[in-house]
Amino acid sequence: MRNKTWLFLTLIMCLSFYHAAMAAQVVNLEAAEGYHQFPYFNQPTPVWEYNGQTPGPVIRAKVGTELHINLYNKLQEPTTIHWHGLRIDNSMDGVPGVTQEAVQPGENFLYRLILEEAGTYWYHPHFNNSEQIERGLKGILIVEEKETLPWSQELILFLDDWRLVEDGTIYSKFNTPHDLMHDGRWGNAVTVNGEVRPEFLVRPGERVRFRLINGANARVFSPNLEGLSAHVIAVDGRPVTTIFELQNFPFSPGNRLDLDITIPADAGGKSFTLLDSFPRESYPLAIIKVANVPPIETPTFQPDIAKQFLPADLFNKVAVSKTWDLNAFRGGKLGIGWGMNRRLWPESDKADFQLGVPQKIVFRNSSSRLHPMHIHGVFFRVLERNNIPAVEPFTRDTVLVGPKEEVTIGLVPEHSGIWVTHCHILEHAEAGMMTSIGVSEKKLARDLL
Ligand code: C2O
Ligand code: CU
Repeated sequence: MRNKTWLFLTLIMCLSFYHAAMAAQVVNLEAAEGYHQFPYFNQPTPVWEYNGQTPGPVIRAKVGTELHINLYNKLQEPTTIHWHGLRIDNSMDGVPGVTQEAVQPGENFLYRLILEEAGTYWYHPHFNNSEQIERGLKGILIVEEKETLPWSQELILFLDDWRLVEDGTIYSKFNTPHDLMHDGRWGNAVTVNGEVRPEFLVRPGERVRFRLINGANARVFSPNLEGLSAHVIAVDGRPVTTIFELQNFPFSPGNRLDLDITIPADAGGKSFTLLDSFPRESYPLAIIKVANVPPIETPTFQPDIAKQFLPADLFNKVAVSKTWDLNAFRGGKLGIGWGMNRRLWPESDKADFQLGVPQKIVFRNSSSRLHPMHIHGVFFRVLERNNIPAVEPFTRDTVLVGPKEEVTIGLVPEHSGIWVTHCHILEHAEAGMMTSIGVSEKKLARDLL
């Protein structure tokens, strides 16, 4: 009897160890100094990278997975990682001083993420952001659907820009008065997956899923595929409710777009250009080169569209609970402060919401600069622009608020904790343009009075 009990207990213990080891998918990320070769220089450029590459490794995992990411800080300064767009436990959100202590040089931190929803996400530090991200710390996180659709292939295009100087280094002055007074740091070298104007090879007839990520500090793109029709199937990671054609989409820092593109059967030998048409003069970002081979049969299927959507009428009777006025003034640690209601992080004008209760927020841009406003840990729906109902068949985690524009959004807090909200022009955020939304499970004390 005794022996059998022991055997049974040992078996259970073995099984649970096995389970703990197998249940999580483990990735190690080492943040360290390294080199990256740009085509402009004879020698490689000193950068900061994850696992020796910029952008960092593409992390892929299935929805529902528990993903464990071990960050090793081999930099000379503290860092953290934030999982842009993921809705996760607040303690894993990577914001120093808010959700965790910064990871000191030589130390490590284990991020435990439970992947709730499939989609295109990315990761980056949340410490000394305007410098760490610009120097190359950034990467792609793909959460795969339960069932994979028969795409011919998938192409990831991580858009970025860099400000390089003649000696082959990254311009080392950050948060300059010029960057602060304008739309942040716009680089002089635009890259896709770290390369200048790369070529992607496809075959005629292929149906390709493009995943676009804007990982630049400040640059807004307007991606357009000349000669190809591109259908938007997901925005900021989540499937859209109605598929629409890509056209003049203001693709701001932080945003993601998933596109469904069929290469015409008669396109063998042709090339298509991915353009950025945000500036007055478009310029090429990448080339889609079609092999001169007989066409393959185009796969037919319906991409997933969003089942649970945040309907606009959910907010019909909801009053605006917070208006954040966005503007600059003299002050703050950098001399120019970018305020939300004239207050700077961390002395910000913060919001307190309750879990599951619909909320309306207004971002009122009183300045003449751009502000892509991002909220951690939740997706939201744009309801109005300048008091005119908006028709966006998708939700977002980042919305570009144009000069003097007023954008009204609706959201339902899904996770409790403190979720920061900031401009994704990293220089603006560094100059104070950040606040937080506290989401409590319980009623706030003042509501009980
Ligand atoms: Cu990509 Cu705090 O954000
Ligand atoms: Cu801004």
